[in-house]
Amino acid sequence: MAGVTDIVFRALVRSFDSSCLLATEMVSSRGLINRPQTRLLDLSVSEHPVGIQIFGHEPDVMVDAALIAQEAGADFVDINMGCPVPKITKGKDGCALMREPELAGQIVSAVRSAITVPLTVKFRLGWNNESICAVEFAQMLETSGADAVTVHGRTRQQLYSGVADWELIGKVKKAVSIPVFGNGDIFAPEDALRAVEVSGCDGVAVARGMLGSPWLAGRISRLFETGTAGQAPSCVERLIVAYKHSAGLCRYKGVSVGIKESRRHLTHYTKGIPDASVYRAQLARVSSCDEVSTILADLAGKTGGEQGRSDFLFAVEKYNFENSEHPAKRDCDSKKSVKPPVDLVAVSPVAIP
Ligand SMILES: Cc1cc2nc3c(=O)[nH]c(=O)nc-3n(C[C@H](O)[C@H](O)[C@H](O)COP(=O)(O)O)c2cc1C
Repeated sequence: MAGVTDIVFRALVRSFDSSCLLATEMVSSRGLINRPQTRLLDLSVSEHPVGIQIFGHEPDVMVDAALIAQEAGADFVDINMGCPVPKITKGKDGCALMREPELAGQIVSAVRSAITVPLTVKFRLGWNNESICAVEFAQMLETSGADAVTVHGRTRQQLYSGVADWELIGKVKKAVSIPVFGNGDIFAPEDALRAVEVSGCDGVAVARGMLGSPWLAGRISRLFETGTAGQAPSCVERLIVAYKHSAGLCRYKGVSVGIKESRRHLTHYTKGIPDASVYRAQLARVSSCDEVSTILADLAGKTGGEQGRSDFLFAVEKYNFENSEHPAKRDCDSKKSVKPPVDLVAVSPVAIP
């Protein structure tokens, strides 16, 4: 998700799920060639398997961008053919490629022959109700060399309205032999189970359900693996993750950008917590991590009593110590992780686009 799945968010998701597939925010192929050092390509050693998603419509530019993504350490490259935003589609990018299947096929063939890591494509059911073409489009992508696809069960015209059509996603699954991830409207572990039952998909991709809930993928994976999703985090635990998210953004992007971006994440984290609206209004105006910590501590006290407040403050202090430049802490991150080869479906049935 653009504006959401940066390296900080992905690290949180990974802390709850050691195997789900992660993907970066979408990156413009042209932009990448002009600015290959973009932060959008930052990957950490401990977050694999992670894919880099690129968008564009010029086969040669897409090849160059995919090679840059592969060089940056992507375990797979994902091509966006589903973005409905006019700014993207008017330049023939994103979902506009579903109206140009020949060009879409050329892009996939060209990129497939250039890179060695798996190539995946994300798309929608079609442009509008009159031009539903997901089945044929998926078959064309498979023939062109895609290794897996993700289908969002809505048309471009629908944007995010209506409900995702998992039966149609199921038709796509039946029509191709590459893995198919279904996508749309998964907000709880049980939604994922039902979606897979209806569609027969190899896995699910979860987007909005992850907002303010980076633990959701882990709960879905656990449900698939063991038959039970386990307990959702308590309100206080959610607030601790919210603080870590905010502090991580400030550390990574600097306080002025990090705190601004934090505000909308904090809104998501506090949704559903009883009596949180007053605190939410304060969080929408925060200007430092200390302020975030003070407001969240008050909310933790409100929802969890003295114990909740003290658990929250203890966790914040621990996090701040572990992430400080305190001499006792240096070298703690020097453990190198080995990047495993990725088998798109064997790794995990859950992907975070
Ligand atoms: C804020 C936001 C940003 C998104 N950015 C991307 C993106 O960069 N690439 C992409 O393939 N889809 C993107 N999407 C679409 C989602 O990946 C997903 O297809 C869609 O939200 C439906 O799934 P959901 O019901 O699980 O949210 C974005 C969605 C949202 C809400």
